Amino acid sequence: MGKIIRLDTVDSTNTYLKELVSRGACPGTVVTAEAQTNGRGRFGRSFFSPEGSGIYMSVYLRPDTDKLTLITTAAAVALRRSIKNTTDTDTEIKWVNDIYKDGKKLCGILAEGVNGGVIVGIGLNFKKFSQPLPEDIADKVTYLTEFGTPELKEKLINEIIFNLNKISEDLRDSGILEDYRQHSMVIGKTVEYSVNNEKMCAEAVGIDCDGGLLVKGQDGRITALTSGSIIVKN
Ligand code: BTN
Repeated sequence: MGKIIRLDTVDSTNTYLKELVSRGACPGTVVTAEAQTNGRGRFGRSFFSPEGSGIYMSVYLRPDTDKLTLITTAAAVALRRSIKNTTDTDTEIKWVNDIYKDGKKLCGILAEGVNGGVIVGIGLNFKKFSQPLPEDIADKVTYLTEFGTPELKEKLINEIIFNLNKISEDLRDSGILEDYRQHSMVIGKTVEYSVNNEKMCAEAVGIDCDGGLLVKGQDGRITALTSGSIIVKN
C-alpha cells in the first residue's frame, strides 16, 4: 500500500495530490482530509465537504488505460464493494460516477488524469450531517451511518484503498463491468441527456466495454454516451 497523508483541512484532496504527483509522489499515494474548503465535483461543480461528516480522499493510480470513463466505472464498483464489505449496506450506481443509497446520492467520484496516471477522488457522506445542507442538495443526498465511529471510518477508508488498487491492476476484468451492470440504477430506465445543448430522451440499455452508457432512442438506434451526465426519468 502507498503512503497515506492525512490532513485536517485542505482546499481539495485532488488538487493537493496533483501537486504531490508533479513533485514525484509514487503511485498508490493517498491523501485524506477531515474537511475541504474547495471540494470539487465534475463539470466544475463544488462538492459540499463539511468537517466531521464525510470521507474525502484521493488516490493516485497508474492503470493500464487513460480512459477516464472506464476508470470511473471501475472506481464506482470498488466503492460499492467497499461499502458492502464494511457496513453490509446495499447501494446502486448511477452512471457514471455516483453511488446512491435509497434513491439519494451517497458518494461521488472525480477522476482526473495526471502525468502518467490518474487521481481518483472520492467524496462519501459517511455520517449524519451535523450542519444544515445547502438548499440545492438538501433533499438529494444521504449518508451511510447515523453514528459512524472513527474506527468504522478508518476501516472503510482502508477497504476503499485496497479495492481501488485491486481493480486498477486489471480494469478490463470482466467481473468489474458485470458488477457495474448488475448494480446499475439506470439500466432499463428512461434517461435524459444533452447533445450540443439539445435535450434528448432514450432508454438506457447497457454499459459498453469502456464504461459508456448504451442508450436506445425512439428510432431503435443504440448509441454510447461516453461522458456527460444524465437525469433518470422513471
Ligand atoms: C461529483 O459528485 O461530481 C464528484 C465529487 C468528488 C468529490 C471528491 S472529495 C475528495 C476529492 N477532492 C475533491 O476536490 N473532489 C473529490
